[in-house]
Amino acid sequence: MTEADIGSVYVAPPGFDSVLQAELERLGSAPNAWLGRLALCSAPPVASVWALDVWTAPEVHRIASIGEAAKLLKSRQRNWALVPTGHFRRAALIEERLPPVKAAPLEFPQLAPTSPLGAWTLMEPGLLLFSQSKTSAFPAGEPRFAEDREGPPSRAYLKLWEACTRLGRWPVAGETCLDLGATPGGWTWAIAKLGAAVTAVDRAPLAPSVQSMPGVTFRQESAFGLEPRDEARVDWLFSDVIAYPNRLLALAKRWIAAERVGRIVMSVKFQGETDFEVMEAFAAIPGGRLAHLFHNKHEVTFFWEAP
Ligand SMILES: C[S@@+](CC[C@H](N)C(=O)[O-])C[C@H]1O[C@@H](n2cnc3c(N)ncnc32)[C@H](O)[C@@H]1O
Repeated sequence: MTEADIGSVYVAPPGFDSVLQAELERLGSAPNAWLGRLALCSAPPVASVWALDVWTAPEVHRIASIGEAAKLLKSRQRNWALVPTGHFRRAALIEERLPPVKAAPLEFPQLAPTSPLGAWTLMEPGLLLFSQSKTSAFPAGEPRFAEDREGPPSRAYLKLWEACTRLGRWPVAGETCLDLGATPGGWTWAIAKLGAAVTAVDRAPLAPSVQSMPGVTFRQESAFGLEPRDEARVDWLFSDVIAYPNRLLALAKRWIAAERVGRIVMSVKFQGETDFEVMEAFAAIPGGRLAHLFHNKHEVTFFWEAP
């Protein structure tokens, strides 16, 4: 691929290059080349679920020196995030000459930064690839949070924090939530900390430290046994249940059809192969969309909002 041919660049989540490759092929935008974790495509940007970040206006420039590279980037905008793909020492020397980008971890709940952030890498010692615009507000599409290492019984709460940060909304005092597949209780802990009322549902017992938090109710039963029409309406339906994606699709549709929910945030976990067909079925639900979050494993998160 020649330098002028790069129409879009996709940042693969660590360990999921082959899933991103398969997705881009399905979308008719097969990568022409890979540069580290970056998929380089000649086609214009497409809506990828698996990419953590998409560079939407890539440019390639020959640079004669470190100083020239830094000058060029600075002439375009203030904030730049390096995605290292090689020539690490030289890239670090360019990075040193750029204004520092605020690196403090996010204190959830907090909105994502809004200042423009570009991304760049060195393709060769004398070849700079960059994009002033990209889809994520975070370097490499990786939001980092100030973690709580004592309160939550699992690290899964980071997924919920990331999902809510992406939405720009989170449960607040006075709202009601259902948390399906809640055990050991990381998500329930995060919701209760926000001051919302949460009913946790799981076949296995919740951590006692979470069950005793104000606003938490626990029902030890199967999430699939709940009949939405018999339940009170909730503002948020969260689900981190481990189940076949098709069962989760039916579950989401049942809650939506019953008009018992305002918003849904649901993990869709894959065992073995990534099921692109079920992803398309989720994305086809009016008001729904999917994203692979930085804190997701081999799973995507389904977001839905009532019209
Ligand atoms: C990944 S864990 C959830 C972690 C949780 N979100 C947290 O933050 O700690 C998946 C959970 O799904 C639960 N699960 C699996 N099948 C279920 C079902 N039919 N109904 C309810 N929970 C189920 C499992 O018991 C397990 O606790």
